[in-house]
Amino acid sequence: MFAITGITGKVGGAVARRLLAAGQPVRAVVRDVTRAGPWAERGCELAIARMEDAASLTAAFAGAKGVFILPPSEFDPAPGFPEARAVIAAVSNAIEQARPEKVVCLSTIGAQARESNLLTQRTLMEQALREMPVPVTFLRPGWFMENAAWDVASARDDGVIASYLLPLDKPVPMVATADVGRVAAELLLQGGSGVRTVELEGPRRVSPNDLASTFARVLGRPVRAEAVDRQDWEALFRSQGMKYPLPRMRMLDGFNEGWIEFEGQPDEIVRGDVELETVLRQLVSCPA
Ligand SMILES: NC(=O)c1ccc[n+]([C@@H]2O[C@H](COP(=O)([O-])OP(=O)(O)OC[C@H]3O[C@@H](n4cnc5c(N)ncnc54)[C@H](OP(=O)(O)O)[C@@H]3O)[C@@H](O)[C@H]2O)c1
Repeated sequence: MFAITGITGKVGGAVARRLLAAGQPVRAVVRDVTRAGPWAERGCELAIARMEDAASLTAAFAGAKGVFILPPSEFDPAPGFPEARAVIAAVSNAIEQARPEKVVCLSTIGAQARESNLLTQRTLMEQALREMPVPVTFLRPGWFMENAAWDVASARDDGVIASYLLPLDKPVPMVATADVGRVAAELLLQGGSGVRTVELEGPRRVSPNDLASTFARVLGRPVRAEAVDRQDWEALFRSQGMKYPLPRMRMLDGFNEGWIEFEGQPDEIVRGDVELETVLRQLVSCPA
């Protein structure tokens, strides 16, 4: 039995679909039972748990051969990352109590960075789970291609995508969530011992200009990438309702300045096979 958190989202859903396709039993861990219907229909067991609640997570992980941890995204974390720390405490406690045979935890490219930024939330998770008494694999994917969901309307309506990734011709490691889910499922099935880190990107790196030209091909209209000036970021993020824009700005700086990168050697990085064009076609046909 594999317990999958985040199953109603992109990556968790992809992990579960892969396991079910391989004939493996899946326990769908959901916080809202009204969203669990499609997974129950596929034959999954259900467990109700919030990622901040150790008791319900312990029950959800009990007896599992493998557990997939999907740390919830927090784009506007308060100083000191209290939201991520609450999840880390509950998840650690639940793993210690339930002792699943294996844990695969979704992390991120750049989790090893020393500079504080949005991804520090995953650095803290990795630090905590390294101490667990069970085998743990961290999966560190690159930038999700599905982040381009934010650009669909402006590409389609105005022929422009606004980019915080700079310069516009710099290739960035990106990956489709379908590849992230597939690799996570494979890691769950592999068993293993100790602590392992697996880094993952797609078939080729993608610059903001590449993103624009792929949108152009998919939409059948000209699309160009436009740089958002670094000095405008803070006001823009605050106008969108963010209270603490600095961690997100520092994450973007990290990609642009090169200190958010993969840690291993290039030949150690696992490559997915889903192309950007495939993802953009899906996003354009059913925008988020
Ligand atoms: N975007 C990127 O470029 C990127 C790159 C590398 C790594 N990542 C990592 O990828 C993860 C996001 O994955 P995703 O795109 O698949 O997310 P997603 O589609 O937004 O799905 C999030 C899932 O988490 C569940 N969830 C959220 N808060 C929860 C809580 N407090 N308790 C229990 N469940 C909760 C959601 O449940 P509901 O359906 O109930 O909302 C949903 O199933 C984050 O950990 C992020 O750091 C992202």
